[in-house]
Amino acid sequence: MNKRVGVVTGGGDCPGLNAVIRAVAKAANRRGWEAVGILGGYDGLLPPSRTLALDYRALDGLLVRGGTILGTANRGRFSAKTGHGDERRLPVELLEETKQGMADLGLDALVTIGGDGSLSIAQQLHEHGIPIVGVPKTIDNDVGGTIFTFGYMSAVDCVTAAIDKLHTTAESHGRVLVLEVMGRYAGWIALFGGIAGGADVILIPEVPFTFDSVVGKVREREERGKHFTMIVVAEGAREKGHDFVTSAAQPENREARLGGIGAAVAAEIERRTGKESRACVLGHLQRGGTPGAFDRALCSMFGTEAIELIASGQFGKMVAYLGTHVGAVSIAEAVGKLKTVPPSGSMAQTARALGVCLGE
Ligand code: F6P
Repeated sequence: MNKRVGVVTGGGDCPGLNAVIRAVAKAANRRGWEAVGILGGYDGLLPPSRTLALDYRALDGLLVRGGTILGTANRGRFSAKTGHGDERRLPVELLEETKQGMADLGLDALVTIGGDGSLSIAQQLHEHGIPIVGVPKTIDNDVGGTIFTFGYMSAVDCVTAAIDKLHTTAESHGRVLVLEVMGRYAGWIALFGGIAGGADVILIPEVPFTFDSVVGKVREREERGKHFTMIVVAEGAREKGHDFVTSAAQPENREARLGGIGAAVAAEIERRTGKESRACVLGHLQRGGTPGAFDRALCSMFGTEAIELIASGQFGKMVAYLGTHVGAVSIAEAVGKLKTVPPSGSMAQTARALGVCLGE
């Protein structure tokens, strides 16, 4: 039977969103189904609905294009998170309106591409009887049930390239250089990117740090004739006994805006060692632009798998990268619990074995 499938993107932008949209539409079109993009997040489903036909021509160049051609939203009526770990239940009237909006558009199923917030909305829509499947997106890699979310490796590529560049300045000037990276409350980007870039110190939220430890590493390097130190700090990293550093007051109905820890770390190292220490904040450069090779392939697998799930009636599922293959887990199992870096897992142990200081 021919189907009409809606695709919606939610939350922050992320490399690979368009690549997933393309894969969903291509896989749907090959089955003779129709794919329809929902514009501006879930709100686009509500009257007056806003859609974009995802036919053959609409897919030109999408594999490599950054952002999302559908637009996205992480605030408004569907905002599902208000803070670290919080979740807001959507009112039943909104769930009903969404169901009606889907019916008005003649949609048989919906593919939600999003992070924890958008997926927790997807779970609520699923519980309300809406046929939905999810695709895990976020550079933070903090969604449960999947080893990798898409966008993460592209962010890691960006961090690695930045470390390579900063290394040359650090070495030439004999400075301490601190690179602050994103990742919210998880240190995946900092740890993987830091290892890939050969950082000397990597500070992540999962391992609260002390300045004694960090400064000890800088001094140890000095003594060995290395007059520069490269430090990667996750925006959610914090000194032992202290809270997260934020760059702005928490906006209503939105998560706290993390940022500023890099500058704080650089200032304290300079104060204690007298060595010139500079901070660089990588910011949204990690989220924009074209996806890397790994993400392009992962997005293609995720998008086509989402259509397979719909074809076999497996609603309430999220596609997942399971190491040996791309499969699916239930959305309920994946959302609501942050997937953080295990402090004794192989990534952290690799760093320690290389002599990288984690600030412990
Ligand atoms: O979740 C992705 C992410 O880029 C986080 O790493 C970061 O903390 C946050 O979003 C920033 O969000 P915004 O662009 O809305 O400030």
